[in-house]
Amino acid sequence: MANTNPGAGSGRPAGIFKSTTQMVVVVTAALVLPVVIIAMVVGASGSKPRPEDEMSPEAIEARIRPVAGFELKEKKGGGPARAGEVVFKEVCSACHNTGVSGAPKFGDKDAWEARIDKGADALLESALKGKGAMPAQGGGEYTDQEIANAMTYMAKAGGATFEAPKVEGEKKEGEE
Ligand code: HEC
Repeated sequence: MANTNPGAGSGRPAGIFKSTTQMVVVVTAALVLPVVIIAMVVGASGSKPRPEDEMSPEAIEARIRPVAGFELKEKKGGGPARAGEVVFKEVCSACHNTGVSGAPKFGDKDAWEARIDKGADALLESALKGKGAMPAQGGGEYTDQEIANAMTYMAKAGGATFEAPKVEGEKKEGEE
């Protein structure tokens, strides 16, 4: 029996392992078991979509569509900036007509007063980049100027007196 005398002559202190064999077994188990467990967990969830799939544009669109209640449109190239009312009806109205998720409702002066006080630029910034439950550009694909038009259309209905900010060097999204 080679291992009945732990540590003797090996310089190894008589530690927690009674024998080299036991140490090998314990260390092997410590290395192999997590791998086996991970393999089982991954295998069990094999049929679920992977995170990359869940983050694909199609998957995201499918998830937000039931909440937002609008169709994301393909970018229509060229042409003059669409009017605020058009953009509002196409995309912003989905939330701002109903007030879903705390969106300030169209024409609700109480809801808009404090927001309008922040100024057109601050409101435009929120509409372009998103705020709270509102996705950037309201989830649509518009030029910055079109978003500015829609924001102004809505803000005016809420009591604002400013005109639509002119977006400098206007360019289509995706051309940046
Ligand atoms: C998916 C729902 C949704 C859509 C679509 C949406 N909004 Fe909103 N919007 C919100 C919510 C929710 C808030 C309140 C955000 C907050 O204050 O947390 C908000 C707030 C705002 C505000 C006030 C921001 C501020 O700083 O107080 C503006 C301006 C605005 N939206 C403009 C727009 C415009 C313009 C569009 C269309 C291009 C649009 N929204 C589309 C949900 C939406």
